Amino acid sequence: MDAEDKVNILLVDDQAAKLLTYEAILADLGENLFKATSANQALELLLRNEVAVVLIDVCMPDLDGFELAALIRQHPRFQATALIFVSAVQVADIDLLRGYAAGAVDYVPVPVIPDLLRAKVRVFAELYRKTKQLETLNRELERRVAQRTAELETANAELERRVEMRTREREAALAQIHEMQKLESLGKLTGGVAHDFNNLLTAVLGNLELLRKYVEHDARQRRLVDSAIQGAERGATLTNRMLAFARRQELRPETIHLPTLIEGMAEMLSRSLGPSIEISIDLDPEVPPARVDPNQLELAILNLALNGRDAMTDGGRLTITARTETLVAGDIAGLPGGHYVCIAVTDTGSGMDDAILKRATEPFFTTKSPGHGTGLGLSMVDGLVAQSYGAMRILSEKGRGTRVELRLPVSDLPVVKNLDAVRPKGNGAGPWRILLVDDDPIVAASTSAMLEDLGHSIVEADSARRALEVLRSDGAIDAVITDHAMPGTSGTELAAQVRREWPHLPVGLISGYTELSGELRTDLPRLAKPYRQEQLADLLATLVHGESAGQAVSGQAVSGQAVSGQAVHGQERRRPQPVVSGPRSRRPP
Ligand SMILES: Nc1ncnc2c1ncn2[C@@H]1O[C@H](COP(=O)(O)OP(=O)(O)OP(=O)(O)O)[C@@H](O)[C@H]1O
Ligand SMILES: [Mg+2]
Repeated sequence: MDAEDKVNILLVDDQAAKLLTYEAILADLGENLFKATSANQALELLLRNEVAVVLIDVCMPDLDGFELAALIRQHPRFQATALIFVSAVQVADIDLLRGYAAGAVDYVPVPVIPDLLRAKVRVFAELYRKTKQLETLNRELERRVAQRTAELETANAELERRVEMRTREREAALAQIHEMQKLESLGKLTGGVAHDFNNLLTAVLGNLELLRKYVEHDARQRRLVDSAIQGAERGATLTNRMLAFARRQELRPETIHLPTLIEGMAEMLSRSLGPSIEISIDLDPEVPPARVDPNQLELAILNLALNGRDAMTDGGRLTITARTETLVAGDIAGLPGGHYVCIAVTDTGSGMDDAILKRATEPFFTTKSPGHGTGLGLSMVDGLVAQSYGAMRILSEKGRGTRVELRLPVSDLPVVKNLDAVRPKGNGAGPWRILLVDDDPIVAASTSAMLEDLGHSIVEADSARRALEVLRSDGAIDAVITDHAMPGTSGTELAAQVRREWPHLPVGLISGYTELSGELRTDLPRLAKPYRQEQLADLLATLVHGESAGQAVSGQAVSGQAVSGQAVHGQERRRPQPVVSGPRSRRPP
């Protein structure tokens, strides 16, 4: 038996000789034996040791066996200790019962029969040992159960955390998808509405302009027509912002040096923002060129500055910076890795709370009072930047100002040097015989009227098919002007067909908006709706004069006034498109 498996047995008797006898008898058991000659000594030994069995002499001088047994049993540690009485006297039934009541488990009569004593002590020692082993096993089991429970709880908590995280991620992704779908359908709707309005505005503006010529001598009538033209132009600005949001704006990207463009805006900005706002422009002159429509970008920066002004009613500071950045995919949502120019417009104004920030780029979302905001400013900026392969990011906190960052990819094309060169204008000689192709009779009528007013003669066709018929039967057409978006064959397709059959016949394209597919990435001279007579004349001049061929003509009212009517927007600035197609010569009559 291992030393740690041995149990302690306490022998209590006032006669040392008897103790020696018991010791001799029990030595065979191989357990640890302690001897006590008095009850006190026995108690002392008990308190200091774990005792499995106590062999007690019933008759002792100071405390008799029963009293000692009662004392032992009272102690909580000795509830499981086996007490065996050794007694020559007092073995009547009543005494036995008293002994059992005091906690005895057995009696050994005197004279002691060694085998009997040994057998009885062995049984109780063994019982004690097994009980102890069981307790140890039980404790170990409990420890393991507790350990497993703790592990399970940890695993469970981790699982719950992950489930919660995944749920949150899923909800966020779903919300994002929902937001994207919402914006996409809003974009489609807005783009569609803007497209139709552009057509109508083309007719309205064209006719008003012609009308203006008839009332030139009458100041009152001229004022009325002028204010109608102004209204229509404001409408045109609105539709352009809507198209920008829908990313269907007809853009004229150029490779430009952004610091030059921003510096050029300084004076106009300080006029627009007023004296209570300090403007700080901090540009890195080394930033590489980027490719974007300069007119639209100016308008975008102006929109951001005006938003800043509106948020700084008690004055403040507007800072515009331009820096180069190298991004890796994922740095900015929606942007692939690469080199970018980051333009940041920062104000010290009221800032936005989360709810406003979330909706700020939604079209028509405004917190401004009626007549003071259309809610299309940020939508326009966002659309423009996205359509230019960049991204907009807004950082704002209620009471702590706003920072809007526009990132545009760096371009490796050479910068267009002569930004403000004035394009040759005029309607050239004439008169020309022009084939006008447009499926919309109202737009066609007004464009015809404008062209006729310029002295040209017009043949109209309401479809590409009809246009080809005219061209095949009428040999005296000098130029074709065609709408792009037509049912069946589009204007771009018609132009390609014309080029194949009549390579020298100039074709100009009129478009309401750019398809995202890039269908309109064409080198055709083109005009965006709505346009005015002057711009139509420019297109015609571009078409029939080889020297200025290939130039695009912007008909969009990059308006001089904000839609809200209170802001001062940038002046209209038209820039030449780099020549991308070879010069065309007029078809010999
Ligand atoms: N710099 C800014 N500081 C605080 N709030 C802003 C800022 N820019 C935009 N906002 C908030 O976002 C809303 C939408 O801005 P957005 O430019 O699209 O439209 P708007 O300024 O209300 O109208 P519009 O641009 O047609 O004049 C604003 O009404 C305003 O609540
Ligand atoms: Mg605005």
